Amino acid sequence: TPPATGYLHGMPETPETSQPELFTWEFAADPYPAYAWLREHSPVHRTTLPSGVDAWLVTRYADARQALADSRLSKNPTHHGRSSGRTGIPGERQADLMTHLLNIDPPDHTRLRRLVSKAFTPRGVAEFEPRVRQLTERLIDGFAERGSADLIHEFAFPLPIYAICDLLGVPPEDQDDFRDWAGMMIRHAKPGQSGGPRGGVARAVKKMRAYLLELIHRKRADLGDDLISGLIRASDHGEHLTENEAAAMAFILLFAGFETTVNLIGNGTFALLRNPGQRELLQASVARGETGLLTTAVEELLRYDGPVELATWRFATHPLTIGGVDIPVGDPVLVVLAAADRDPARFARENTLDLARKDNPHLGFGHGIHYCIGAPLARLEGQAALGALLTRLPDLRLDAEPEDLRWRGGLIMRGLRELPVAFTPAA
Ligand code: HEM
Repeated sequence: TPPATGYLHGMPETPETSQPELFTWEFAADPYPAYAWLREHSPVHRTTLPSGVDAWLVTRYADARQALADSRLSKNPTHHGRSSGRTGIPGERQADLMTHLLNIDPPDHTRLRRLVSKAFTPRGVAEFEPRVRQLTERLIDGFAERGSADLIHEFAFPLPIYAICDLLGVPPEDQDDFRDWAGMMIRHAKPGQSGGPRGGVARAVKKMRAYLLELIHRKRADLGDDLISGLIRASDHGEHLTENEAAAMAFILLFAGFETTVNLIGNGTFALLRNPGQRELLQASVARGETGLLTTAVEELLRYDGPVELATWRFATHPLTIGGVDIPVGDPVLVVLAAADRDPARFARENTLDLARKDNPHLGFGHGIHYCIGAPLARLEGQAALGALLTRLPDLRLDAEPEDLRWRGGLIMRGLRELPVAFTPAA
């Protein structure tokens, strides 16, 4: 069967002819035609975000890659010329959660990143593999006999929460609280609005912060081999890590490692279900016990419909030129990873899902000094999740019209609100 029509799903589609509207709900459902227009007609594009903030959108691959590694673009929101510099990461109004990796520049960035990088080497993360596999199996057990499920809520959402809680050293009995708080933090976004903590979100961030500070106190008296204990040890050995920095680090690991991974599993499964030929290839390969195609598949799914639509905010600290356009000091620059990763100047058959794609230097994990520190864990979770789904639920199918699925709003992330599926119930 040919894939359903639609730009997102690999069918050629007429690009927009006039300047498309950005940040509507339609755009949130399928931003790719608009990005094709921007790449072609206005690759470094000044726009007013729904929040009222003016920013530059960078959509071509070469420009995006250059901007991500440009030290004249600071991550520190105080460099934003004209506003409070809100960056849209929940919790940023909690000043003591602000000094995290995505908000700071060298030398502080270098110091803090070094402290956690050990936990995220492919080797360190590989130790985690049995636990991630056990989690995926347990979550699938929860719905396998039913014949239907919402894969976002019952699978993609809890998996990374429990994984990061384990990594940080949050005791199992407290992990469901994290699941609740994290759910509250991602529920309310509108297209194009990074949305700081409001109402329920603010309460969730507050609770998480209070919990993390208390956990740090408790661990100090009883160090283990988890990441929070590692951070405390580092601060006790003159590595200049304050307690607030430790809490901010725990918080950013949760924040950066959670919704992203939900979306990798959600967007990835959706793309597979919409491209039956590719899905069959992968399913057969997994059934033969191979890992090669699963590995390239996760990279391709990150390129094709990745979790991070726009990289987090950057602010010009010096005058600079991107793609021939002068960027004034103080201006925010948003690098559109989703647009760069479909740039035909870099990727052949840019709108086609090709799970075996070899030449695939996608920007889904960013580039430069802020390159995703959690990439090895995200890859492990993505491979384990997709492998387990295709093995345990071999006739997995979408249980809704694709057009009816709702996408979450927001500025930085791209992901589905729900993913209803059906399959033959396990005996
Ligand atoms: C940074 C993507 C999973 C932790 C980033 C950046 C991207 C990204 C694009 C760079 C942002 C920028 O430059 O503005 C992803 C994707 C993931 C994922 C697509 C899942 C598929 C994770 C996980 C963790 C994590 C599982 C940790 C548990 C971080 C941290 C940073 C980061 C701490 C900041 C690094 C720095 O500033 O030095 N991620 N991420 N991410 N990611 Fe991930």
